Amino acid sequence: MSEKIGILTGGGDCPGLNAVIRAVVRKSIRKYNYEVLGILQGWRGLMDYGLTEELNLDKVSGIIHRGGTILKTSRTNPFKEKDGVKRILEKRMSLGLSAVIAVGGEDTLSVAAKLHEEGLEVVGVPKTIDNDIWGTDYTFGFDTAVNIAMDAIDRVHTTAESHNRVMVVEVMGRHTGWIAIEAGIAGGADFIFIPEKPVDLNKVCDAICKRHARGRNFSVVVVAEGAKIANDAKDKKEEMVVVQDEKLDAFGHVRLGGIGKVLATEIEKRTGYETRFVILGYIQRGGTPTAFDRMLGTRFGVAAVDLVHQGEFGKMVSLRGNQIVSVDLKEVMSKTKHIDDDLYDMAELFFG
Ligand code: F6P
Repeated sequence: MSEKIGILTGGGDCPGLNAVIRAVVRKSIRKYNYEVLGILQGWRGLMDYGLTEELNLDKVSGIIHRGGTILKTSRTNPFKEKDGVKRILEKRMSLGLSAVIAVGGEDTLSVAAKLHEEGLEVVGVPKTIDNDIWGTDYTFGFDTAVNIAMDAIDRVHTTAESHNRVMVVEVMGRHTGWIAIEAGIAGGADFIFIPEKPVDLNKVCDAICKRHARGRNFSVVVVAEGAKIANDAKDKKEEMVVVQDEKLDAFGHVRLGGIGKVLATEIEKRTGYETRFVILGYIQRGGTPTAFDRMLGTRFGVAAVDLVHQGEFGKMVSLRGNQIVSVDLKEVMSKTKHIDDDLYDMAELFFG
């Protein structure tokens, strides 16, 4: 009897997930003669019954260009569910899985790292449009999100210039400003705000006024949803994050979003320039992946099956330079990949 491996996708949907699934199935069947079981709705599908689906070459045909995930996803945290870990370990046995490939971001992979310590044979594949997973130069989904955001920045330039307005574009990025920095630089934004560097509104408004006084009568501002506004009252030092919903999800995250509106209101109030905002939100995660993300997803999927074959569990596939290598999941989970000062210094050259 051939070996059977499972694959699941967890966390936010992300362009390129279907490329990974397709590559895992192709490599498993064609190279190693493994059977592949699709586990539906992330970790939920490995806890509850009735949430699996056999995958074969036909099932993954014609999906590489599609966004989202044919396996569905959820933000389920088994460590927060009654007997979650026990149920997963039992279900893995009853399904006859010799390994599980978990495709996800920091939350899904942190569960994978912990479940590995509990005895699950697991290999991780890093996914997130935020590109904040330590240990890999890029995650798939990021390139698509950057291109969508860059296109939006290009488009709002039209209104900014025609109306002499300040346009604020809010992009995703919970802990890090990768989308904001790359889309902002590529789109020629005049100011970029990221979670790594708190926004000093007085400085920003002065800089906008100087730019407009120079005759550039419009500005395009890009802000990551997780950017913080520094409190400018002299006696207070705290920083403010703008949230849509304070309620925590299963991994302890609030729902971010809305800093674009707060910034726009403050900029208009303090500078007197007419200011508008747009929040790109889920548009950045939707639709077809770029060629880069399809290619990276494919390379990750193929490499993940090789790790399973070599018995290299508790590892994550990663991109270093142009090579696909592997790193310890535990190490990956102890860090976050932030924007380094050199990149931010470069971005600042183009501010104002
Ligand atoms: O982690 C990717 C991401 O798109 C973040 O940028 C964003 O904060 C979050 O997911 C939104 O999550 P949800 O889909 O649960 O609203």
